[in-house]
Amino acid sequence: SQFQKGVKHLCEKAISRVPGKYILPVHERPGRAAIGNDAARVDEGRKLMSLPMVDFAELRSSSDRPRALKSLAEACEQYGFFQVVNHGIPEEVIGGMIDASTRFFGQPYEERARYMSSDMTSPVRYGTSFNQSKDKVFCWRDFLKITCEPMPQVLPHWPSSPPDMRNVVALYAKETKCLFLKIMEAILESLGLPLPATGRGSVCEDGGIMTQFEEGSQLMVSNFYPPCPEPELTLGMPPHSDYGFLTLLLQDRVPGLQILHGDNWVTVKPILGSFVVNVGDHLEIFSNGRYKSVLHRVLVNSTESRISVATLHSLPKECTVSPAPELVDEANPRRYMDTDFASFLAYISSCEPKKKNFLESRK
Ligand code: SIN
Ligand code: FE2
Repeated sequence: SQFQKGVKHLCEKAISRVPGKYILPVHERPGRAAIGNDAARVDEGRKLMSLPMVDFAELRSSSDRPRALKSLAEACEQYGFFQVVNHGIPEEVIGGMIDASTRFFGQPYEERARYMSSDMTSPVRYGTSFNQSKDKVFCWRDFLKITCEPMPQVLPHWPSSPPDMRNVVALYAKETKCLFLKIMEAILESLGLPLPATGRGSVCEDGGIMTQFEEGSQLMVSNFYPPCPEPELTLGMPPHSDYGFLTLLLQDRVPGLQILHGDNWVTVKPILGSFVVNVGDHLEIFSNGRYKSVLHRVLVNSTESRISVATLHSLPKECTVSPAPELVDEANPRRYMDTDFASFLAYISSCEPKKKNFLESRK
């Protein structure tokens, strides 16, 4: 149908109402309260929440590291989300990624559509909604998903226009992978686990867990959310959790990301040039439930388009994730079954996205 071509295409003809295809059942709508009275902004300043901050300058300093690790642990336990500053990734790399995504989505539909694929294993997939072959109600989002590893094999499949896209993506993938590894080291330390390359067999048999992360999977998702005439009726992304260990999210200056904190959806205040990092299902399982993979969703708004780039990191796809043996004892019995990437794929293709909670299926 016409909706398969995505929301950017839909909005190229001026529309004043949200088509029925995008209207959520009443109890799933974000509603007026979330959107704000004048509906012009996604949310007003006072309702935006600053996430717990993790400062890499502190993590790098031996005197400040213990305190920084403690705030990292608290953020992962209480929010499942934190904001990383002083991460050391150059501004040009970050700005370049947002800019290249903007230019990718700015291309004519025919150019973007070259990368459309319903094959979940394809190294590049352009599409719309959450899962457009399954969603009954569509969400207000177009996306480009790029598999980043193994780079020499996948790079030739990446979009060749805009002409600098491959270079920008390769550089951004390399930098975010490095940052992911540094954050994972801090996370392992904050969990009281033995550090790099000790060869403990808690996840994969050969090599330490950091080696496994180095060789692990990396998926980049650029999201485009056009302005929406009735943002209270729909969502840019439905409530979901991320499957991997950590997601590093870059957003432009427009708010939209909401996380479930207690019983409330709170809107995250964007901080330009920093990363929002969240605990994924695999880390919740690995930490035996100590760190939480938290539900999040995306609001749209009536005046501004929004761009975000999420980079999802986990172990190599063939690896099994289990609770770390050090975190399982009589006081803390094992809370999850083992899992791997194949069970995740089987799970998501077997159920409706809105009902999806992969983590529950692992308990
Ligand atoms: C997500 O990837 O779940 C959130 C993306 C966004 O904030 O746009
Ligand atoms: Fe997500």
